[in-house]
Amino acid sequence: MATLILFVLSLALFVPLTSTYFPTLGKGSSLSTEKPEDVLTSSNGVFSAGFYAVGENAYCFAIWFNHPSHSHPHTIVWMANRDQPVNGRRSKLSLLKTGNLILTDAGKFTVWASNTLSRSPVQLSLNNTGNLVLHTSEGYSLWESFDFPTDTLLPQQQLTRNTKVVSSKSQSNYSSGFYKLFFNDDNLLSLVYDGIEITSLYWPDPTIVSWDTGRSTYNSSRVAVLDSFGNFTSSDNFTVMSADNWMLLHRRLTVDYDGNIRLYSWEEEEGTWVISWQAIQRPCTIHGTCGPNSICSYVADSGRKCSCLPRYKRKNHRDWFYGCEREFNLSCNKKDSGFLLLSHVEFYGYGTEEFQNYTFNQCKNSCLQLCNCKAFQFKFDEGKGSATCSPKTLLYNGFRSPDFKGDLYLRMPKSNLLSTNSIQEFHLDCSSDDTVLQVLNRTYEKSRPNGTVKIMLWLACGLGGLEVVCILLIWCLLIRDQQSWGADKQGYLPAATGFRKFTYAELKKATEGFSEEIGRGAGGTVYRGVLSDGRVAAIKRLSEANQAGESEFLAEPHTKAKQPPPTEIKAIAASHCPTPSASAQHRRPLPNVIGHCQT
Ligand SMILES: *[C@@H]1O[C@H](CO)[C@@H](O)[C@H](O)[C@H]1NC(C)=O
Ligand SMILES: *[C@@H]1O[C@H](CO)[C@@H](O)[C@H](O)[C@H]1NC(C)=O
Ligand SMILES: *[C@@H]1O[C@H](CO)[C@@H](O)[C@H](O)[C@H]1NC(C)=O
Ligand SMILES: *[C@@H]1O[C@H](CO)[C@@H](O)[C@H](O)[C@H]1NC(C)=O
Ligand SMILES: *[C@@H]1O[C@H](CO)[C@@H](O)[C@H](O)[C@H]1NC(C)=O
Ligand SMILES: *[C@@H]1O[C@H](CO)[C@@H](O)[C@H](O)[C@H]1NC(C)=O
Ligand SMILES: *[C@@H]1O[C@H](CO)[C@@H](O)[C@H](O)[C@H]1NC(C)=O
Ligand SMILES: *[C@@H]1O[C@H](CO)[C@@H](O)[C@H](O)[C@H]1NC(C)=O
Repeated sequence: MATLILFVLSLALFVPLTSTYFPTLGKGSSLSTEKPEDVLTSSNGVFSAGFYAVGENAYCFAIWFNHPSHSHPHTIVWMANRDQPVNGRRSKLSLLKTGNLILTDAGKFTVWASNTLSRSPVQLSLNNTGNLVLHTSEGYSLWESFDFPTDTLLPQQQLTRNTKVVSSKSQSNYSSGFYKLFFNDDNLLSLVYDGIEITSLYWPDPTIVSWDTGRSTYNSSRVAVLDSFGNFTSSDNFTVMSADNWMLLHRRLTVDYDGNIRLYSWEEEEGTWVISWQAIQRPCTIHGTCGPNSICSYVADSGRKCSCLPRYKRKNHRDWFYGCEREFNLSCNKKDSGFLLLSHVEFYGYGTEEFQNYTFNQCKNSCLQLCNCKAFQFKFDEGKGSATCSPKTLLYNGFRSPDFKGDLYLRMPKSNLLSTNSIQEFHLDCSSDDTVLQVLNRTYEKSRPNGTVKIMLWLACGLGGLEVVCILLIWCLLIRDQQSWGADKQGYLPAATGFRKFTYAELKKATEGFSEEIGRGAGGTVYRGVLSDGRVAAIKRLSEANQAGESEFLAEPHTKAKQPPPTEIKAIAASHCPTPSASAQHRRPLPNVIGHCQT
């Protein structure tokens, strides 16, 4: 009975939890990357939070929109560790007893934490709005994901002076990209390209003063929020009313990886997101898209494309953000330099100065004066009857559009000029860039279980050991009176069932070189031996083709027959026989193996 209870108890310890859905997570519990099917789900079923595979063996703890259609990958609305995915093994999101919510990578590093502290019980739950909230039982919130947006704002999630929304790197790479939506120092909601080498603001249009765009710099409360009807309002008086703003729909405002902000609404019947508004209509005005030394231009079907400037080549073939680099060396010598005309091409920003009313030659010379001048832009304004000249030391945010009534003159060695005439063009394929999955090679912590695990292991071992002892005890008792353990009935008893196998050397040592003979029978000679743990045993040295049964062994001490020398010696002694009376009887004859317990 005791065995049964213990057995059931220890089984219960090892039965894995099979649930996949949690309404809340309490103190001391966790979600693991090894069971990504375990997720927290909002009570309306719209959002789930759990481990999301962002690559091979790479996971991020994320909140996603549960698509009813399943035809697309989940729409991620938040991520805890977008820049540091964790290993698929031994990584966990745990709510500690201290009230801190932590994400550990491979059982080793803490890659993210809520940094909260609470003595009272706390729970992690996913609100119907998609807000992951760590709250006390009274509903007081300690931490919420809405305060730490990634690339998306959900209805009721406020963008404040302390937060910013940052695009992801690409469609398949969820780590932080270069585009940020935030309130700038003038209280204006703005989009900035914060790139590899430069930072530049591109929305609202920097060439237009704020009041012309309907913005106000006077309200310093700096808050913007989207509602479920599709109204997005900001404290700088910027407002968006989506076309379908009379309908209560699932919506999101996302800073997409291409640098545009879009307002999406969920089309239930189609099972897709539809764009109900976007900030920028002319995508080439988004800074950074093509990187330095390149030109963005519009194409009819696919939107836009990037091209390197003539005699420049791509720096990174997978990523346009790195732009292009020069194939030639520029000499400081004025006589060596010439200029190549590129019509209707503008490079925004990074001029040394802007000169009004310069002639073409004045402008050209102003560039030649500077060793690091790469080009100059010359734009004649017919209305004013004068020209604007800007020598450029950096070539960023280039784009070509017939609307631009100016030209760019690119500086290059005279020797290159004759052979150069066209712009190399490449299509910017926005749909399929860098789809290679992220592969993380991390070493796992081999065996350093934490305190709790250690105690559990010891407990399990203890229980297991106790169980084995009890089972053997009962088994020994049960078979005590059984007399018919004949060889005819017996099969093999695997060593795993509690018998111990001894080597010849061990037995030789126990019998002190087979010195004390206590019996002799048909099967072989029996010697007295003392095992390493102090127990006294009868050890039989078997002869060839021995099929000796129990009775023969028992009769051994009384038999005196001479035997041929042994050909094989092995022995198994039951190691758990607790009482001499029981063990003396319990021997299972095995082919060429004899087990015996005696004290
Ligand atoms: C969670 O949602 C409920 C209603 O759905 C709301 O009353 C509560 O304030 C929300 N809590 C937080 C922290 O957003
Ligand atoms: C903001 O917009 C409202 C109407 O939409 C207008 O009455 C108000 O004057 C604007 N504020 C500023 C500072 O422009
Ligand atoms: C959205 O904003 C417009 C203009 O501010 C307003 O007329 C409309 O009532 C708003 N809709 C909702 C649902 O709040
Ligand atoms: C500033 O913006 C907030 C949020 O939009 C609004 O509630 C508040 O009335 C505005 N203040 C002024 C002085 O316009
Ligand atoms: C540019 O100059 C470097 C050394 O200053 C030289 O190694 C390289 O070959 C030059 N490149 C060209 C295209 O002339
Ligand atoms: C430009 O220069 C011309 C003569 O050089 C002068 O008449 C004109 O006033 C200047 N315009 C401006 C805007 O400085
Ligand atoms: C994703 O982007 C990050 C940041 O630029 C980069 O470090 C990482 O290597 C990228 N991952 C892949 C698979 O390209
Ligand atoms: C990861 O390991 C695999 C196989 O061990 C190897 O082929 C691959 O190059 C490794 N990747 C990195 C990034 O180390």
